[in-house]
Amino acid sequence: MSRKTWAAVDDYIVDALFEADPALDAVLAANRDEGLPPIDVSPAQGKLLSLLARIRGAKKILEIGTLGGYSTIWMARALPMDGKIVTLELDPHHAKVARSNFGRAGVSNQVELRVGPALESLAALSAGNAGPFDLIFIDADKPNNPNYLSWATRLSRPGTVIICDNVIRDGAVIDGGGHDANVVGARAAFSFIRGDKRLDGTAIQTVGAKGYDGFAIAIVS
Ligand code: SAH
Ligand code: DHB
Ligand code: MG
Repeated sequence: MSRKTWAAVDDYIVDALFEADPALDAVLAANRDEGLPPIDVSPAQGKLLSLLARIRGAKKILEIGTLGGYSTIWMARALPMDGKIVTLELDPHHAKVARSNFGRAGVSNQVELRVGPALESLAALSAGNAGPFDLIFIDADKPNNPNYLSWATRLSRPGTVIICDNVIRDGAVIDGGGHDANVVGARAAFSFIRGDKRLDGTAIQTVGAKGYDGFAIAIVS
């Protein structure tokens, strides 16, 4: 079974289940034109994030790692009219492209984009009593996963769903002796979830257009 098959099956899922979506296609085209790396979630994964938000009934969502806002838009679409998603991005160019994409997708009113190191934005959100969030998606610099999970628990309430992207990494997650900082960060997410009494979680391995990776998903008690 090859990556080509996984990508073709992802195409099948999109064709079989999703409406044509020129707005989201335009977002990916804008990201490409602006030189952003193609590391957004896949369409099927974006839809999963959107469904999880709806299943949770999320009104307040927090995202760490915006890029061009592709995942942000999927989650924003799951919000009720009076809902809001706060998304945190370090890179000013990524943020500029994301802002324009939010306008293009018609979600600007529901998105608050904060530019700067996420750890600083999280401290400011906490100081400003921005929480609790109903769903939190962590998808930024992987070595900071434990720090982001720690802030996520502080900005949560019982029932908050926390999702952490890229925790399988082609299976490299099982390599405990390695020094790849991204793998260390992935393993740290598992250790954090196991070690925090308020969190109960699992991980799902995914294959598809983005290769072999996965999400960790936890609920706050
Ligand atoms: N969630 C996006 C992809 C995010 S890619 C999607 O699926 O569409 C990871 C993003 O995290 C990049 O844009 C990168 O600039 C940002 N990032 C990296 N380090 C960061 C930090 N310390 N604080 C905030 N954002 C950071
Ligand atoms: C990378 C980052 C991501 O968040 C992702 O989903 C895929 C790849 C990366 O930094 O290469
Ligand atoms: Mg990711």
